Amino acid sequence: MINIALPKGRLGERAYALLSSAGYACGEYFPDSRKLVFCDTDSGVSYFWVKPADVAVYVERGAADVGVAGKDILLEYSPDVYELSNLETGKCSMCVAAPADWQDDMSRPLRVATKFVNVAKKYFDGLGRDIEIIKLNGSIELAPILGMADVIVDIVETGKTLKENNLKVFENIFEISARLIANKASYNFKKDQITELVKRLNGEVNA
Ligand code: PRP
Repeated sequence: MINIALPKGRLGERAYALLSSAGYACGEYFPDSRKLVFCDTDSGVSYFWVKPADVAVYVERGAADVGVAGKDILLEYSPDVYELSNLETGKCSMCVAAPADWQDDMSRPLRVATKFVNVAKKYFDGLGRDIEIIKLNGSIELAPILGMADVIVDIVETGKTLKENNLKVFENIFEISARLIANKASYNFKKDQITELVKRLNGEVNA
């Protein structure tokens, strides 16, 4: 069996659709169920649904052989895993955004609200800009609106959230898409199965 960790939500559903067309459907798959593990002995797969940021933890520790994680998560947490394939879905960007009339005041540290602390630190370190990180867990856009932060570092997909809150993108830090990742030991022990999965999945991505 190959154990696969999928991120709960839209990205996981898109990844499952790809895996399913690649021949890894799970007869036991019920999107609305509260069940977390689904097995299919015929396809030789077992799926776990976990929080998106936790996929890399399950894979790094070998609880899952492979998983689907956004490039944002991989760059933020740098898990010790193999990145096997770009699934070309879940595309979005990591951006610096702020109120449209924002101007940087270099006389004081920039207050940056984000979920992506390491990404933000690395980006502003590279610019030599002093920052103060305000770590939040969601609705990051609120922070500059309420005057708690100057800018945010966050994911922009359609741009709708920024637009509806009078914020705009000032910098695009990197592009994001979903990646198939593998546990390093599993990759060695289950090389044939995982290689086959990657081959079939890439076939679906490029179809
Ligand atoms: C993400 C991100 C933005 C939004 C961007 O939030 O943090 O808030 O999506 O999407 P858009 O450009 O299409 O509007 P998510 O929905 O994951 O919720 P969160 O606010 O709890 O992080």
